[in-house]
Amino acid sequence: MVIESLDLQDFRNFSQLSWGLAPEGNLIVGPNGCGKTALLEALYAVIMGKSFRAPNLSHLIKDTRPQFHIHTKLHHPLKAIGLSKKAHTKTKRYCLAEENISSVSLIRQLPVQMISPESFSLLSDGPTQRRRLMDWLMFHVEPTYFSHWQKYNRSLQQRNALIQAVAPDNDLLSMWEQKMADYGEVITQQRQQWSQQLLTGAAALITPWLPTIQLSMEYLPGWKREEKSLLDVLKTTRIKDLHLGYTTAGPHRSDLLFKIGKQAAQYVLSRGQQKLVISAVLLAATTLIQTHRESKVLLLWDDIVSELDSYNLDLVLSAVEQLNAQTLFSAIDIPSFCVSANKRAPYKVFHVEHILAPV
Ligand SMILES: Nc1ncnc2c1ncn2[C@@H]1O[C@H](COP(=O)(O)OP(=O)(O)O)[C@@H](O)[C@H]1O
Ligand SMILES: [Mg+2]
Repeated sequence: MVIESLDLQDFRNFSQLSWGLAPEGNLIVGPNGCGKTALLEALYAVIMGKSFRAPNLSHLIKDTRPQFHIHTKLHHPLKAIGLSKKAHTKTKRYCLAEENISSVSLIRQLPVQMISPESFSLLSDGPTQRRRLMDWLMFHVEPTYFSHWQKYNRSLQQRNALIQAVAPDNDLLSMWEQKMADYGEVITQQRQQWSQQLLTGAAALITPWLPTIQLSMEYLPGWKREEKSLLDVLKTTRIKDLHLGYTTAGPHRSDLLFKIGKQAAQYVLSRGQQKLVISAVLLAATTLIQTHRESKVLLLWDDIVSELDSYNLDLVLSAVEQLNAQTLFSAIDIPSFCVSANKRAPYKVFHVEHILAPV
């Protein structure tokens, strides 16, 4: 997929905007508060149906206006998609080529990877972000994953509800544990297979970037899978779980583990080194999706320069250019990599301050 153009009406600080994008490198430049993140947010929202920074789409309607519209033309069989939101009413989405397309089908056909300064807490924060990354990858590379994942989560919720009941029904518990085990084993097997490819791809970037660091990366399934099946584990942890009121083992507790020797990587690596490791993992995920799906990923990278020093930035940009994805970077000024390094592919620069003349 390639985004050819973006049109906005009453979105965040923009009254009206029309922007033609380059199929490869795009750079959004402008001072603080001019709407760089808002442009990335608009592209994210029109595909994902949600914002990455606001809890609901009503926040994205320009002050005092009744609704916003986003329209994008695509170089893709879906041709064009749009999204509009009026406060207190249902979000409206449309797709030119497929009138009643479901959100899941649209998102699956248009893979988008969003990298923001928050992404760089992937190692130091709890496992939620790492699990989200795995789920995003799996959603795009394994067609059956999402429905198995949904069924696993539903069974998990049922088990949790039962173990919190005053008098849990053991037969019902056994039934939901069986379902958890059936779906949980499938998604874990798929996750293990793809995480191995993800971590191999990440290591291929990290080794030359950080040649003196012995980083080990591992996928943890959420229970000791080499010792016990998920069903056995759920049976043996049932008494403990009844006491605690939640399910302590299973794929919902999975994680990606980054270690240097015996220590967690975030306690050893400098902030800059962590950023390189995280960039490598995120780019490896994008590469896997592009290779497997034979389709370009839309890579949205907010505030790229502030997150990386010039040496690291150069390493990361070279890897991004190898990707051949459609990329949109945002930065406060035209970064030096665009002016000084001739080896860089040309970026189409969009100056946001230029379109902020009163309308
Ligand atoms: N709903 C809204 N209506 C009008 N202006 C908004 C709305 N939401 C945010 N803004 C303004 O839009 C601008 C967009 O900010 P942002 O995209 O974060 O800028 P940048 O990333 O360039 O620093 C800010 O000046 C913000 O105050
Ligand atoms: Mg911003």
